[in-house]
This record gives sequence, C-alpha cells and structure tokens, in this order.
Amino acid sequence: MAQVKMTVNGKPASGEVEGRTLLSTFLRDGLGLTGTHVGCDTGQCGACVVHVDGVAVKSCNMLAAEAEGASVDTIEGQAGADGSLNVIQQAFQDHHGLHAASARRAW
Ligand code: FES
Repeated sequence: MAQVKMTVNGKPASGEVEGRTLLSTFLRDGLGLTGTHVGCDTGQCGACVVHVDGVAVKSCNMLAAEAEGASVDTIEGQAGADGSLNVIQQAFQDHHGLHAASARRAW
C-alpha cells in the first residue's frame, strides 16, 4: 500500500492504494466520485474520462499512483457552487450521457 495525494476538483485528496489501483477505482471507491463511470475497463469506451493536469485521460488506463501530485477534474467538479449544471453536464443529461447520473452531486 502507498499513500497518494492529489488535488481533485480543486480540493486536496489522499488515500492508501495498492500499486495496481486504477485512478478510476480510486476516484469511485476511494473518494466516492461515482460520476466517473467504468464502462469497458479496457480503454475503449471513454466512460471513465477525467482531466489530469488539464489533459483528458481514460482513468481506467492510469494508475492512481501516476496521478500523485496532479490536479484531477471529474464531472462532479463541473457543477456550479449552487449545484446547477454547467453546459457539459446539461448536455450529458439531455442526451443520456453516462456521467449525468451523478452530475448534480458537487464534491
Ligand atoms: Fe471504458 Fe475506461 S472504462 S475507456
């Protein structure tokens, strides 16, 4: 087990992970950010995309340890302070995107 620290949606986040823990698993199971979905777990569908230091990455293809010290943005971080949806979240909801289910939950 190793300690990882990163900034998630503008807030400090940390946790204990195994070396093989995927970033998607850490976000979902470690931080409860279930807006990051796991569709295929093979890097094909894009349901797990988050931004790491401003670059879109498939979090099922990245180890949590690789995000050490990085700034990670998930769909939850896109909500307004009052919980209102931003344009991307609204588009997911309007078109039944996978990220819409938990898009309203700000973290
Ligand atoms: Fe499909 Fe990551 S879960 S690309």
